[in-house]
Amino acid sequence: MRVLITGAGGRIGQMLIEPLRAAGHTLILTDLHPDESLGIDALDVTNAAATVAACAGASAIVHLGGIPSEAPFADINAVNVVGTYNVLAAAVETGIDRVVLASSNHAVGFYRRSDATRSFDGRLELADPAAPRPDTFYGWSKAAMESLGSLYHDRYGMDVIALRIGTCFTTPPDARALTTWLSPGDVGRVVHACLTAPKPGFRAIFAISDNTRRWWSIDGATALGFVSEDDAEEFAPELIARDGEPDRSDPTHDRVGGTFCFAPLGETMSPAVRRDRGLPDPTA
Ligand SMILES: NC(=O)c1ccc[n+]([C@@H]2O[C@H](COP(=O)([O-])OP(=O)(O)OC[C@H]3O[C@@H](n4cnc5c(N)ncnc54)[C@H](O)[C@@H]3O)[C@@H](O)[C@H]2O)c1
Repeated sequence: MRVLITGAGGRIGQMLIEPLRAAGHTLILTDLHPDESLGIDALDVTNAAATVAACAGASAIVHLGGIPSEAPFADINAVNVVGTYNVLAAAVETGIDRVVLASSNHAVGFYRRSDATRSFDGRLELADPAAPRPDTFYGWSKAAMESLGSLYHDRYGMDVIALRIGTCFTTPPDARALTTWLSPGDVGRVVHACLTAPKPGFRAIFAISDNTRRWWSIDGATALGFVSEDDAEEFAPELIARDGEPDRSDPTHDRVGGTFCFAPLGETMSPAVRRDRGLPDPTA
């Protein structure tokens, strides 16, 4: 499959390049910041005409480009919501019928452990919740992304899978990620499953590894053919020695969105985004 990736220069984009190529896909790599050494061309998804042009010859899109954490409403709306609209509209215009959207657990961040009612394998799991409960403007933009995907499926018959990604880092960065980690290998496997599952229609599903401590269901991803090969538990001794055993009644561990549920609304969190927007480094 010939796949356009937006935001390909970012953390997840770079994790996907090798596994998707190894799975036989031909990639068109784009990002706001081009990178000649990685073969990444310039594409700002807020530019509708450029987004249409970038779709030439593609048969699917993996849309990662955007602001990856909390920021002022106007920025979030312009990049994450209008950018997603531009991607979906460009897909229609160029005949692309499958789009994978990088949504987030923060679209449903206010759900808590007590909302997990599905009993599976001796534990309670939170099934993929249909109704969003965003925890930030960022999470709201992911909920908006998902509902745009649903609209484009119903209107145009497009297959759209919104992945509610957990914590996709090379290794789990903290004790919360013992439940929420999506490993670099598993992000390749879940995106490949989204690209190749027969007629998935519209879905909004959690994307995490099969972590021993997870409490979000991975049934939605499994139904598409995803088989996780990783588990954050191997990092538990080191993270617990550093952060302590997670207290499940602490909101950080009780809510899907963790600390995002309590971060100041509209305050830019990501250092890379602060740099992009010329904002001072709060830690400096
Ligand atoms: N990594 C995670 O744990 C995680 C969790 C949930 C959701 N997500 C989502 O997955 C996607 C990728 O996340 P990431 O961790 O790789 O973030 P990242 O910040 O490393 O990568 C995002 C990329 O998008 C690019 N970008 C920003 N504005 C753009 C624009 N206007 N047009 C095109 N590209 C633009 C950036 O240059 C960057 O390379 C994001 O949409 C993020 O919200 C990530």
